[in-house]
Amino acid sequence: MSAVDYIKDNKQKFLDELFDLLRIPSVSADPAYKNDVLKTAEFVKESLEKAGVDKAEICKTAGYPIVYGEKMVDPNLPTVLVYGHYDVQPADPLELWDSPAFEPVIKNDKIYARGACDDKGQMYMHVKAFEAMMNTGGVACNVKFMIEGEEEVGSENLEIFVKENREKLAADVILISDTSMISLDTPSITVGLRGLSYLQVEVTGPNRDLHSGVYGGAVANPINELCKMIASLKDDKNRITIPGFYDKVAELTADERKALNEAPFDLDEYKKDLNIEDISGEDGYTTLERSGIRPTLDVNGIWGGYIGEGAKTVLPSKAYAKISMRLVPNQVSDEITELFEKHFKSIAPKSVKVKVTPHHGGEPAVTPTDSVAYAAASDAFVEAWGKEPIPTRDGGSIPIVSLFKEELGLDTVLMGFGLDSDAIHSPNEHYGVTNFMKGIETITLFYKHFAAKSKN
Ligand code: BES
Ligand code: MN
Ligand code: MN
Repeated sequence: MSAVDYIKDNKQKFLDELFDLLRIPSVSADPAYKNDVLKTAEFVKESLEKAGVDKAEICKTAGYPIVYGEKMVDPNLPTVLVYGHYDVQPADPLELWDSPAFEPVIKNDKIYARGACDDKGQMYMHVKAFEAMMNTGGVACNVKFMIEGEEEVGSENLEIFVKENREKLAADVILISDTSMISLDTPSITVGLRGLSYLQVEVTGPNRDLHSGVYGGAVANPINELCKMIASLKDDKNRITIPGFYDKVAELTADERKALNEAPFDLDEYKKDLNIEDISGEDGYTTLERSGIRPTLDVNGIWGGYIGEGAKTVLPSKAYAKISMRLVPNQVSDEITELFEKHFKSIAPKSVKVKVTPHHGGEPAVTPTDSVAYAAASDAFVEAWGKEPIPTRDGGSIPIVSLFKEELGLDTVLMGFGLDSDAIHSPNEHYGVTNFMKGIETITLFYKHFAAKSKN
C-alpha cells in the first residue's frame, strides 16, 4: 500500500485521535491548566510511540516538558528534525465561541477547537505522516521529533534545551508546520517570520486615586498622559518615531519587493473578511509588505481607572498598557526593547512616572530558498497540490527558528498548512480537514524528495 492510500484509509482514525488531543486544554499561559498541559505531553509521547519511533521521552525542563522522539533508519541517510508545539493560547473570550473551545466539532469541512490549527492540528500531521510512512515501507530519512509545551509563552526552556542537547538534535534540516499558506488554490512556503519585542508600561500620576472634580484639571491623569505618549509613537505617515528604531531594518531590493507582491492578494476580500472600510499602515508599502517585511508597534491591551458598571468620577493613580513591536531582519529584540524604554521615558511629562517591564522577545528569521530542503518541499507541494508553492513572508513569530540557526547551524523549512482566516489565537479557531489530510500527504512527499535529492 502507498502512504497516500494509508492516509486516505485512516482518515477517520486520524481525525478521532486529533479530537482526543484537542480535548485536552493545554493552555501554557494559565497555571490552572498545569495538569492538562502535562497530560498533553504524555499524549504526544504515546502517539509517537504508536506511530513507530525507536524511542520517545518526556524531557523535563524548568517549565513544561519537551517531548522528544526519534527513528534512526540509517546513519547514512539525512536527518529531519521536526519541531512543533503542543501548548495552546487561552480560549478567552469564551462567550464568543460558537461551540466550546475544547470540544472539537467539524462544520463545513473545518475542525473547530482551540489549537486545531495552532499548532496541535499541524503538529499532529507530522506524527500521522510518520505513521503512514512506517506502515507502508518505512521512512526515507532519519526523523527526530521535538515537540514543546511553551511556544505560546516564549519558549524560554526550549532555548536552554537546545543549547544543552546539540548532539542529540544533530540533523540536516528543521521541518515546521506552524505557519499559513495563501489558500487551498495557492500553496506557499513561508520564508520569513517577524521577531518580537513585548513589554508592559506602567504610568503613575498621584500617589492615590483622586476625586476627579476636586483635583481634575490640576493634576496629571496617567491615562490621558499614557494615551498621548502612545499616540506620539507613530507619525502621520504611520512610521514609528522611536529614535534608531529603523536603523537596522534591511530594505528589500526592488526585485524582491516585486516578487513579494506577485503573490495573489485581494484587497476587497481582505477588507470584507474583517468588515473594515479601509486599511491602515505605513505610507509607501503594500499590505503584504506592511504585514511581512516591515516592523510594527501595537498596543495589545490598555487599562486603568474605573471600568465597572455605571460611572465613577475618579482621577486614577495608575495606567497600564501592553505593547508589542514586530521586528524584521536585522533588528535585534533586546536592542529595540532598550530603545523603546529610553524613548518612552524621555517623552513622559514630569507630572508622571514611567516604569517599563520587558516580557519575552524573539528574533526575526529568513529561511533560504536555494537549499536542497526547500527544493524538496517545493516538489512535495507540486506533487500534492499541482502547483509550485509561492515563497511568502509571514508576519507572525516563531522565535526558535533563529535560535536553531544560531545554536544548531540548521536552516528551517516552514511548511505551514493553515490559512490566515483560521482565527488562530481568536474565538472559533478552526482548521480545514482538507488542509489536515493534504498536509499529511505533502509531508510524506517531503521525505521522499528530500532523501532523493540528498543522494545527489
Ligand atoms: N504559530 C504561531 C506563529 C505564526 C502564525 C507564524 C501564523 C506565522 C503565521 C505561533 O504559535 C505564535 O503564535 N507565535 C507568537 C509569538 C510567541 C513568542 C508568543 C506570535 O507570533 O505572536
Ligand atoms: Mn504556533
Ligand atoms: Mn500561536
